[in-house]
Amino acid sequence: MKAAVINQFGDTDVLKFEDIAVPSPKPGHILIKVLAAGTNRLEHYLREGSVVPEFPFPHILGADAAGEVARLGQGVEGFDIGERVIPMPGFPTDEKDYDIYPASLAPSFTLPGLGIWGTYAQYIEVPARYTLKDDTGLSAEEVATLPMALATAVRAVKEIGNVKAGDKVLVQAGASGSGSMQVQVAKALGAEVVTTVRDDAKGEFAKSIGADLVINTRNEDLVEKVMEWTGGRGVDVAIDNVGGDVLAKSIDAIKATGVVVAFGFTAGTEVTFDIRNFFFGQKQLRGSMGSDIKDLQWGLEQVKTGKIKPALDRVLPLSQAAQAHYLIANNQVTGTIVLQPWAE
Ligand SMILES: NC(=O)c1ccc[n+]([C@@H]2O[C@H](COP(=O)([O-])OP(=O)(O)OC[C@H]3O[C@@H](n4cnc5c(N)ncnc54)[C@H](OP(=O)(O)O)[C@@H]3O)[C@@H](O)[C@H]2O)c1
Repeated sequence: MKAAVINQFGDTDVLKFEDIAVPSPKPGHILIKVLAAGTNRLEHYLREGSVVPEFPFPHILGADAAGEVARLGQGVEGFDIGERVIPMPGFPTDEKDYDIYPASLAPSFTLPGLGIWGTYAQYIEVPARYTLKDDTGLSAEEVATLPMALATAVRAVKEIGNVKAGDKVLVQAGASGSGSMQVQVAKALGAEVVTTVRDDAKGEFAKSIGADLVINTRNEDLVEKVMEWTGGRGVDVAIDNVGGDVLAKSIDAIKATGVVVAFGFTAGTEVTFDIRNFFFGQKQLRGSMGSDIKDLQWGLEQVKTGKIKPALDRVLPLSQAAQAHYLIANNQVTGTIVLQPWAE
């Protein structure tokens, strides 16, 4: 099969479009023909070598796919060859961990493209129990934008942030892959949403997916605007995809007893904030990582009712995976880029 393979860490040019053996499905697993592969910023970090110290090379990145069943491993029932499916973008690999909830807390939890070969390929091999039937009615390209960003957004906003109808929620970087889903999950839960961008085109996009207020942090003060919007009180919950020096602003933008959900680190892994405002206000900082199959199931129900829509930036052939990573690294993506493994 063709795949975007890495044989070493490095710049975008380490992604090579090569022939590599098709994996065979282990007992209890399914071989999926990948019709479209979604991209995430995580894969840019993994390719650079800034997240895990080593892989058994050659390695294939990619957590997200929309595909169809190509072959069934021994003992797999309930799936038909050719049926449209969505593999979970993360699951435990050890059977002993299968009942742990949420799955992302399991010691053996990993992602396609991290602990096993990923979706930047014509085929992937995944456990049947972590494969969902795709009855969204959407194109494979649209579906491929969803799994990781949607499932982790449901976990962060609904389960960790505990967002409820009527809450006011801040989502940092609302035009990003993750942010665009977090805005829509919060809206689907009945919250009002303020989000941040750094250019006006991304601001228009953030409004189009339902943000009630968009703050361009290049020329507007985030905390001042949030306080104006909430009558001086602050938001109930902030979802922070950005980290670095932005996280302190998320803390300042929440109400007394409010919650910041730490989710990402695009602006840096080191965070400094004034502890006085934090504990005087009896605020909370919670981490959110990965998801459970229940999160993706809930998210896909919202997709089917039209409450959540895919945010497809553009479609590129898999042979241009390096270009996709360049665009991600340079923040030139609105929503998610999708790669087509079968395109010429
Ligand atoms: N916790 C989890 O389970 C989980 C799951 C998925 C992703 N993540 C993490 O979440 C983060 C976002 O991932 P993604 O795939 O959504 O990334 P993405 O689509 O590439 O978006 C990242 C966005 O961050 C914003 N940004 C970058 N540098 C910034 C800075 N210095 N200040 C303010 N904003 C900045 C940019 O938005 P603008 O240009 O619009 O400002 C950019 O579009 C990553 O750190 C990723 O590892 C975590």
